[in-house]
Amino acid sequence: MYIRGLIEFTNYCKNDCLYCGIRRSNKNAERYRLEKSEILDCCKEGWKLGFRTFVLQGGEDGFYSVEKICGIVRGIKELFPDCAVTLSIGEKSRESYQAYFDAGADRYLLRHETADDDHYARLHPKELSAQNRRRCLYDLKEIGYQVGAGFMVGSPYQTADNLASDMMFIKDFKPHMVGIGPFVPHHDTPLANEKPGTLELTLFMLGLIRLTLPSVLLPATTALGTIDPQGREKGVLAGANVVMPNLSPMSVRNKYMLYDNKISTGSESAQSVDDLKKRMSQIGYDVVVDRGDAIKP
Ligand code: 5AD
Repeated sequence: MYIRGLIEFTNYCKNDCLYCGIRRSNKNAERYRLEKSEILDCCKEGWKLGFRTFVLQGGEDGFYSVEKICGIVRGIKELFPDCAVTLSIGEKSRESYQAYFDAGADRYLLRHETADDDHYARLHPKELSAQNRRRCLYDLKEIGYQVGAGFMVGSPYQTADNLASDMMFIKDFKPHMVGIGPFVPHHDTPLANEKPGTLELTLFMLGLIRLTLPSVLLPATTALGTIDPQGREKGVLAGANVVMPNLSPMSVRNKYMLYDNKISTGSESAQSVDDLKKRMSQIGYDVVVDRGDAIKP
């Protein structure tokens, strides 16, 4: 099992995705941003805990210019040359992606969310398109990143056909990583009253992805851990081989609320990595201290 330390460094977002709790029109979200020094402190703590990948995730926040992000990436790489840096900061220009890569970023997570253009349009505001999302993913891959795509399971209006399209997209694009988790409604969004995705369907999709891309990096996600107390273990047994515990400062953890009841304590917390190790060993898995780079498919 590979572990990644997840640092949720800003919950400001210019986008208004209908499912997401940190969408810009959610006036009830208490916004925060972390300074470079705070992010580096998270990494220092994470390194001691055995993390060798740091994932910087945030909303699409214009405060963090290309120069700022590059400065943060360089700062982490200088302190921890043995670690991988993953960015998960949304849709940017190809030039920006290239600049982050040149600054030392190794990987980029950008879920395609749904491979069906009409379904995509129903979950997003009109400024966003499935086409631009895919353009980003292809740019990232061409630049040389290890790239993560992915989708929500059981998102509103999703059909079995849509999930088949997601599988075909993944088979064709061959991402190095695939992040999937159940849709979970957030009470301050237009989709508050929609049904959540199920554990069973998420596990089934994890299994299909593992069979389709045998060497893919596949996280048992926080959303899966949120809908079932044994979600992460069940995800691993279905084919997942990555977990991404939360390494954000305690003071901001409850503010990065993408959906209701998002967990950030217990073995979801990087500080409890020993607890995570114990739980993984109970199902026959070892957590390793390793960058856990993608291997050639
Ligand atoms: N339920 C489940 N996952 C969500 N995400 C955003 N909002 C929700 C939600 N309500 C996921 C999206 C995004 C990732 C960071 O979190 O897939 O890409």
